[in-house]
Amino acid sequence: MSIDYSEKLAAMREGGLILNEAIRKAADSILPGISTEELNAIAEDCIRQAGALPAFLGYKGYPKSACISINDEVVHGIPSDKRLIKNGDVVGIDLGVKYKGFYTDKAVTAGVGKIPDNALKLIDVTRRALEIGLEVCRNWQGRKISDISRAIQEYVEENKFSIVRDLSGHGIGKELHEDPRVPNFTSKKFPEVDLYEGVTLAIEPMVIAGDWKVKTLSDGWTIVSADGSPAAHFEDTIILTDKGCEILTR
Ligand code: MF3
Ligand code: CO
Repeated sequence: MSIDYSEKLAAMREGGLILNEAIRKAADSILPGISTEELNAIAEDCIRQAGALPAFLGYKGYPKSACISINDEVVHGIPSDKRLIKNGDVVGIDLGVKYKGFYTDKAVTAGVGKIPDNALKLIDVTRRALEIGLEVCRNWQGRKISDISRAIQEYVEENKFSIVRDLSGHGIGKELHEDPRVPNFTSKKFPEVDLYEGVTLAIEPMVIAGDWKVKTLSDGWTIVSADGSPAAHFEDTIILTDKGCEILTR
C-alpha cells in the first residue's frame, strides 16, 4: 500500500517547468554590466506571467524573489541595482516557485566570460555532485538519505573541494523546507531516514574551492566562504516514484 501523491506530483511538475523556464531566462541574461536586481526582475516576471508565485519573496522576511550569489558568496545573496555582473564572476542563481499550493526549488551556477581554471573545475564538480546525488535517487529502493549525502561528499572531497556543512538540502512540498533534511555530508549526528515512494526532495550541493567554513554578512542573509574562496551551488527538486526518480525542475 502506498499513499496517493498524484495531486502533489501534478502541481510540482507544472511548477517545476515554470521554475526551470524562469531560471533559464535569468541565467541567459547573465552578461557583464547587468545588475543582480535586473536578473531578479527577469526571473520574477517570468514566474508571475506563468500564474505562479515567487517562493522566496517574503520568506522569513527575505526581500527578493531570487538569491544571486557571486564568487565568495555561497548562497542567499540579495539582488541589488548596485551590484553589477562583471567578466570573471562566478554567478549562482537560486529560485523558488509556489504553484497550486506546492513549492519547487532550483539553483544553477555559471561563469561569466573567462574565469580561472579552478573556478571552472569548481562549477563542473558541483554540477556533477548533484548528478551523483540524483543517481542514488534513481535507485532509491533500500537506500537512505545518508547514501545521497555520502555520494555527494565523497565525490567533492576526491576533487579536493569542500562541502558546506552549515546548510543542507531538504524535503519540499506544501512548505519550502520540510523534513527530511538532506545534508551533503555524513555525520553520526544525523538521523537515518529511509527513502520512500512519493517523497519530494531538494538536493543541493554547495561547494567551496577552499575551506568549508562560512559566515553571514551584516545584511543578515548573504552567506560567504570564510576564507574568501569561490563557491558554487546546483539544486533540483525531485520526486521518488515506483519507477525511480523524476526531476521536476528540468
Ligand atoms: N533555496 C534556498 C534554500 O533551500 C531557499 C532560500 S530561502 C530565502 O535554502 F529566504 F533566502 F529565499
Ligand atoms: Co533549497
